[in-house]
Amino acid sequence: MIKIFRINFLFLIFSSISCSQTSNSANNLDSKSMVVSAHPLASEVGINILKKGGNAADATIAVQFALAVVYPSAGNIGGGGFFVYRSKDGQCSTLDFREKAPLTSTRDMYLDSSNNVIKNLSLYSHLAVGVPGTVDGMVNIHKKYGQLPWKELVQPAIDLATNGFELTRLEANKLNRFNKTKGKINKNSEYYKEHFSEGDSIFLPQLSKTLILIRDHKRAGFYSGETAEMLVKEMSLNGGKITQQDLDSYQSIWRDPTICFYKGHKIISMSPPSSGGILLTQMLKMAEHFPLRDFGFHSLKSIHVMTEIEKLSFADRAKHLGDPDFYKVPEKSLIDSLYLLERSNKINIDSTLLSSGIYAGEFNLNESEETTHFSIVDEYGNASSLTTTLNGSFGSGIIVDGAGFLLNNEMDDFSIQPGYPNMYGLIGGEANAVEPSKRMLSSMTPTILEKDGNLFMVLGTPGGSTIITAVFQTIINVVDYDMSIEQAVNSPRFHHQWYPDEIKLEKDIAKDSNLIIQLKAMNHQLNFVSSMNRVDAILVKKNKYFGGADNRGDDHVSFF
Ligand code: DON
Repeated sequence: MIKIFRINFLFLIFSSISCSQTSNSANNLDSKSMVVSAHPLASEVGINILKKGGNAADATIAVQFALAVVYPSAGNIGGGGFFVYRSKDGQCSTLDFREKAPLTSTRDMYLDSSNNVIKNLSLYSHLAVGVPGTVDGMVNIHKKYGQLPWKELVQPAIDLATNGFELTRLEANKLNRFNKTKGKINKNSEYYKEHFSEGDSIFLPQLSKTLILIRDHKRAGFYSGETAEMLVKEMSLNGGKITQQDLDSYQSIWRDPTICFYKGHKIISMSPPSSGGILLTQMLKMAEHFPLRDFGFHSLKSIHVMTEIEKLSFADRAKHLGDPDFYKVPEKSLIDSLYLLERSNKINIDSTLLSSGIYAGEFNLNESEETTHFSIVDEYGNASSLTTTLNGSFGSGIIVDGAGFLLNNEMDDFSIQPGYPNMYGLIGGEANAVEPSKRMLSSMTPTILEKDGNLFMVLGTPGGSTIITAVFQTIINVVDYDMSIEQAVNSPRFHHQWYPDEIKLEKDIAKDSNLIIQLKAMNHQLNFVSSMNRVDAILVKKNKYFGGADNRGDDHVSFF
């Protein structure tokens, strides 16, 4: 099925994006509109929609579908995500298009008869797949905000899949790893080749056909008819659970955002079933009790205090966060200022709290390795922040036979057994146990900030559990350390999630050997990692847009 040939990479990039200026991390003081995404071709698709007079919501839909083609490890139609939108009049809304557990799911579906977890069942089997939410999500965004016709928004992705596109070095490497490590890739699939190289072109005719059905029939092009039949067949032939009834009943949901204030900024983020907005709020409100600016960027004190804050927040996540349609999440209590003051009082400035000595808060409960993020602002002043995922890189690795799209392995985000860590090491319990039709808890944190009532910042990132801490630190970098958006996005990061009891640090932080000695002396366990997250953000200052595309990847700012 696959047709590959080598063509001049630079020629293709420049010929396809000749009408607008682009850069890896560019700022054009006169730009009217901006798209920052994980892939240059997807950013370009978005900016072309904006040039045609589309708004940020139109561009969002087009970028989501384009990423499903050019960035298949995370861009998707077989996964889900979260969308945060602030329209030019300051109205905010958030859409949950997270996957759901199939109707016949059971709490113990990943355990053997002795109640032991069956390794990899929630990750690399047909049972790993949640009912996809992306296409319904895009249709809902279009219904509420779309300006351009739906067909024009899906077409660029169809063109990329049909006419082919070139692989960047990183994407070629990723596909090679996928073909080798997931082990399950069907050698007849469009994504299979013995070896990919930078500059190879890839054509995806099956995916293109599926996208054409979505273009022509919207929701029905995916959840019924030919595509649905192929998906249900893929499941029934391989022990999966998704049925036509699951597809018929899937609905994305508009939810109230989680809102908080930090040093004069209003922060609008995603509420449960993402833990992102609640934990970001907890972290920022606890951070307010410490003079981070005086401590200094990446000083011993600032890293220590922020680590302790992160630990305390993740302890609450494990116990209290889950799908609010199934579990009473104590949302108000978790972000209550007094509660967070009490929590921050547990932090000792000179010594670390062992995770084993930290517990989630107790409330009176009667109160009523892949993802991708992109940020968009349009010339009208609308802003969009969207994080979308298949969960692991290339999800479950399962490609729907005949329909050419990858399926998620989002079921692993459930707590498949109390205390058993998911692929990001996160643990949980009752709040996030598997139940039919329930949404699995997420860490995705698409976020928008206002300052003085005006749009100030749009940001988000992939990275599993590290998403929340990366968004937290990027905001602190801008608000407390006065960094430019490029510095804020590209600075090294660190992360603590309560368990395992260790700080993950990007290697650049290790260059400060004195800091490392001091952190160790405080009893912090350190785990150095090469790279975490790819934050894609836009900062607005005096009505000018500044783009920050993470230099850890191919991430790209396009503007006009
Ligand atoms: O929803 C979540 O929290 C995870 N499924 C996100 C996975 C992710 O970010 C992978 N990226 N590197």
